[in-house]
Amino acid sequence: MPANAAPENLMETLVSLCKRRGIIFPSSEIYGGLNGFFDYGPLGSEMKRNIRNAWWQDMVHRRDDIVGIETSIIMHPKVWEASGHVAGFTDPLVDCKVSKQRYRADQLFFAPVVVDGKTVGYVSALESENTTGELQTAAEAFKRKKAIQGALEPVKPRDMTEAAPEEIALIPSPATGEPGSLTPPRAFNMMFETYVGALRDDSAKSYLRPETAQGMFADFRNVVDTGRVKLPFGIAQIGKSFRNEITPRNYIFRSREFEQMEMEYFIHPDADWLACHEEWLTWCQEWLKSIGLPESHLSLYEHAKEKLAFYSRRTVDIMFKYPFGVQELWGIAARSDYDLQQHQKFSGVPQTWFDEASKTKIVPHVIEPAVGVDRILLAILCAAYHEDEVEGEKRVVLKLHPRIAPYKVGVFPLLKNKPELVKRAQELYRKVKRRHNAFYDESGAIGRRYRRQDEIGTPWCVTVDFETIEKDGTFTLRDRDTLEQKRINETELLALLDEKTA
Ligand code: GAP
Repeated sequence: MPANAAPENLMETLVSLCKRRGIIFPSSEIYGGLNGFFDYGPLGSEMKRNIRNAWWQDMVHRRDDIVGIETSIIMHPKVWEASGHVAGFTDPLVDCKVSKQRYRADQLFFAPVVVDGKTVGYVSALESENTTGELQTAAEAFKRKKAIQGALEPVKPRDMTEAAPEEIALIPSPATGEPGSLTPPRAFNMMFETYVGALRDDSAKSYLRPETAQGMFADFRNVVDTGRVKLPFGIAQIGKSFRNEITPRNYIFRSREFEQMEMEYFIHPDADWLACHEEWLTWCQEWLKSIGLPESHLSLYEHAKEKLAFYSRRTVDIMFKYPFGVQELWGIAARSDYDLQQHQKFSGVPQTWFDEASKTKIVPHVIEPAVGVDRILLAILCAAYHEDEVEGEKRVVLKLHPRIAPYKVGVFPLLKNKPELVKRAQELYRKVKRRHNAFYDESGAIGRRYRRQDEIGTPWCVTVDFETIEKDGTFTLRDRDTLEQKRINETELLALLDEKTA
């Protein structure tokens, strides 16, 4: 294996590492788990917290034009009528009546099997990296099984939203392999419903929020009235969102409960919204790179005008090359004044801004960068995982950016049976821990202790040795990525940690 290679089956390797080292667990595992829900263990919760903190620091604290808020997960049901989610937040769903499996129609592909220009049957496959190849193989198998003579044409895949009504009964279900059990696609609303209060009727029906964004719109006037903000300005929020995804998949990439970091940037209706959209697109890409995602794994995807979400004028997604394909990581949408206009209409409360220049009330437009914490974490894990060889042994190492790493430094005494080394190492550990998360380890050979920290991405380890006690008080600092070792004193160590993790 070449140095720094990631394995072929990276996702399986990561899932196993995350379970073994307390990063991510299936939710309610002792009851068999619950599809689309995950728990974050001691290290995973640190990493998520670090992602949130880095975003909040850079998006809110280090800027003068953005303020943060936290809004409730359950909001007045009218919010979701106004936003368009009650009517339009749907995915097309196809049921298999025999297996009771459910599929997202746009992820279930089919193709007619055409021999000598004549359709002799249909094949289907779930969306994958190689959907066309799978359908072609299925078409060849179909022709062989039915002993049909003649030339098979290359398959032309379509998804179930494009199936003609008369084709649906002829398309085999991926679950059974037989035609006749798939239903026509129907709109499935992805919001989780709940009831507020003791009554269980429609008057008490509400929803778990499917995005944090509506909190910022519903509180727009509150922030303007209290926050001393001036156009252009942004309102940011980090919080849980919930979507009853038809097919949660790819580990934490698409789950039913996830965390979003969203920011609504309000601009004057006459402002150059396209330029502002471009600026945020650049900001978001730079931010991803700053926390360690390689540029080579990032790309942009511009949504076609006819496929834009109901609120959007322009959406560009920052895509990440995950092991299961290039997929959306961060959506940057120009939402025009859609949301504020809708809330003004549905609530009857003006959602306006007094423009001093023109002495008129205007409804601001919005640029929205919206990203998922869990998706960033998965991208970081995928990019950070490396296997190499150190001193003739395979080493697993997570090359995490110091801002994201759960522990910033491992602190070791060279030997655990030398009280003077243990005492000094513990002193140092306690001191570092006041400012940075650190890990103390005295068990096993030093090489083993380094490996344990490499596997969870600790950027540095320091060892208290005899030179520390007998000579100048310096420690050995070992770098996770370069494997370099050098002497460093306490002041220098704290300065290094402050600088690199800020
Ligand atoms: N307010 C706009 C909005 O919510 P979105 O593209 O539906 O837009 C924004 O979601 C981001 O939230 C996505 O780019 C993704 O990072 C994350 N996200 C969306 N659905 C998700 C899911 N089911 N699981 C994990 N993350 C998700």
